[in-house]
Amino acid sequence: MIPTLEWTSEGVRFLDQTRLPLEEVYVLATSYQQVADVIATMVVRGAPAIGVAAAMGLALGVRNSSAANVPALAAEFETMCRTLAATRPTAVNLFWAIERMKQLFADVAGRPGATVGSVRDALIAEAQQMYDEDIAACRQMGAYGAPLLPQYGGVLTHCNAGALATCGYGTALGVIRAAVEQGHEIHVFADETRPFLQGARLTAWELMHDHIPTTVLCDNMAASLMRQGKIQAVVVGADRIAANGDVANKIGTYGVAVLAKEHGIPFYVAAPWSTIDLRTPNGEMIPIEQRSAREVTHHAGKQLTPNGVGIENPAFDVTPAKYVTAIITERGVLRPPYAESLLQPARAAAV
Ligand code: MRU
Repeated sequence: MIPTLEWTSEGVRFLDQTRLPLEEVYVLATSYQQVADVIATMVVRGAPAIGVAAAMGLALGVRNSSAANVPALAAEFETMCRTLAATRPTAVNLFWAIERMKQLFADVAGRPGATVGSVRDALIAEAQQMYDEDIAACRQMGAYGAPLLPQYGGVLTHCNAGALATCGYGTALGVIRAAVEQGHEIHVFADETRPFLQGARLTAWELMHDHIPTTVLCDNMAASLMRQGKIQAVVVGADRIAANGDVANKIGTYGVAVLAKEHGIPFYVAAPWSTIDLRTPNGEMIPIEQRSAREVTHHAGKQLTPNGVGIENPAFDVTPAKYVTAIITERGVLRPPYAESLLQPARAAAV
């Protein structure tokens, strides 16, 4: 299993994704501020991994605290939550995880005889449980999603929704992994994913690690490959799915979805339930992270563009629900209309 992140007695250990694929280097975060920094700088990235990293950051902050009593710890905990929530705005898993830890803090703190120690132990256990649940959810998505993929053929993915974006196995890549484990002969086409190159660097690295045949293509090549009949399905992850089924995912996903529809190729989204945000009615309401212009103007420290030129760098886009063939979750495969199926996950499992 690829060790994306791990709770240790010294702190939270992260595989540094900014250094892959050339170097496998680990970073140890020993404070919640360092965990926040690791999330903001994308040492760890991918919606589910960001959520669990934040939960571990909170557990670490509480473990390190010298607060004398529970009210003093609660005040510090508020600051920790605010710091971690300010790292990346689009992946709703971040806010879901913080909310879950806040809820637990309040529950444990409200029990008779609650102490700093009892709150600390509960939060550490919860963060580790979220880690285990994430892996289980990915495996379940794989089981539900694998039959949707072709027995033979090309599957295109965008960005990295793999083991590196989760606690292990992956969402979109988990579905691919499960299909391969079941004997599907799949060739993965990985969009390089400008500007941060998650596809070229991370998806290619982790699929090669598992000996799954993979070809990297520049983002602007997908249309041509689809037209040549090389792609039989698309499967991607998500950072936030609104109540109407609109999907925010890595910038470029929308274009892939439109192309898939034009070529009659199914477009699947694989995401855990923690990525579904029923409080956000549609994609227009999803906050889109804007990242530094330098990610576009420079590559490997080398300037690519003339000084002073205007730069766009939204990290995500929104794919309208009408382009999404199905949403694969750990509770089942959801089909349109999503405004209804997102409310009926148990029934959807039987679809
Ligand atoms: O900016 P990133 O690398 O965090 O973006 C990641 C993605 O867009 C993934 O597709 C998404 O988080 C799903 S990960 C299972």
